[in-house]
Amino acid sequence: MTGFQREAAALACDGVALDRIAAEHGTPLYVYSAATIAERYRAIDAAFAECPHAIHYALKANSTLAIARLLRTLGANADANSGGEIDVALRAGFIPSQIVFTGVGKTDAELAQAIDLGVRTINVESAGEIARVDALSRDRQTRTRIALRVNPDVDAKTHPHISTGLRTNKFGIPIHDVKDLCARAGFLDGVQIVGLHAHVGSQITDLEPLTRSARALASLAGELRAAGTAIEHLDLGGGLGVSYDGAPVPGARDYADAVLPIVRESGATIVLEPGRQIVAPAGVLLTRVIDVKTAGPRPSDLAPRSSDLQPPIRDRLFVVMDAGMTELLRPMLYNAFHRIEPVIQTDAPLVSCDVVGPLCETSDTLGKDRRLPRPEVGELYAVLDTGAYGSAMASNYNRRLLPAEVMIENGRARLIRRRQTIDELLALEL
Ligand SMILES: Cc1ncc(COP(=O)(O)O)c(C=O)c1O
Repeated sequence: MTGFQREAAALACDGVALDRIAAEHGTPLYVYSAATIAERYRAIDAAFAECPHAIHYALKANSTLAIARLLRTLGANADANSGGEIDVALRAGFIPSQIVFTGVGKTDAELAQAIDLGVRTINVESAGEIARVDALSRDRQTRTRIALRVNPDVDAKTHPHISTGLRTNKFGIPIHDVKDLCARAGFLDGVQIVGLHAHVGSQITDLEPLTRSARALASLAGELRAAGTAIEHLDLGGGLGVSYDGAPVPGARDYADAVLPIVRESGATIVLEPGRQIVAPAGVLLTRVIDVKTAGPRPSDLAPRSSDLQPPIRDRLFVVMDAGMTELLRPMLYNAFHRIEPVIQTDAPLVSCDVVGPLCETSDTLGKDRRLPRPEVGELYAVLDTGAYGSAMASNYNRRLLPAEVMIENGRARLIRRRQTIDELLALEL
């Protein structure tokens, strides 16, 4: 078994005790299991083995260099969402032909970077972007391989902030415009349409939207082929969710079983862009309790009530941690749920509490209404399943320093990103 397990009362990562790692590197601290990343990458690869496929790891989920490098050595390619992520991919050792470039608003400078490098494909989002890629490519006397990002108007049934495949979302080319656009792009010297792409959202735990999107791409590819555009690959995007609360969700095998019968017939190579599925359960955020405080009732609340119908106002217990929205934005951004556990289990009585961060924002909350063994100042906690969209979304709000990150490899803890210093934070200011 890889990943985060209890050894007696103590939570460990691949056999290395988390309290030991926190004592050495301080908190807040991200800890990743390299073995879990490898296992989860290989599970996707094995599930799609029967079909020609390429896994382009979505760097946006976590692009810390050591993680990107690990995935490259496992055989992954890269999905970059900005010029910065293309640079990270190159520094992690990916070659341009292993990179797909996605993103709803690519600047001319970013497009030129991708064209000059010769990335595998640029996933274009609009007629305007096709025209810009065409012009930039003709200036360079080259022809750029593009895939059309299709908006299939599919409801991903996920949080609205991470739903991308509805007609009303800003992403992609409306599906009914694609054939016409393809016909027009056929006359352009600077672009060659080689693929179709769709990504309908993230944290999708119902396979139906993913199969609907795959079906839309496969049937569109058939129509385009009949009209003379050779579609080499179908890029199904990312989006497969993970279980944040321990309830069962479909895994890589279920996903492959659902979409392969739909896309296999097309004869196209299948491109996948998983992010969360690979890294979310491979990381935890370690954080210590700074303060435990109660918000008691106001004196007026204690006055005799005119009616007994009102419930008594109970004290609210706040557990203030040294990590908050600057280290993990997801709870605040998407109301996302993460399990929060003491690293060393105690037999203190269970209490109801809100686990909150130290920032000057009321919404800076890691978990509301949790039942925890009564937390004590100084105790170490783990926020689980934070390997994806955790450190990648970290910020310096309140002038807080970006956290350190450690990876457990072969039973050893390696610091893969040291904690930012205040000098580094201020170095850009003139
Ligand atoms: C175009 C694209 N591909 C892939 C991904 C990765 O998604 P996930 O982490 O849900 O697999 C995203 C993220 O939303 C995306 O926008």
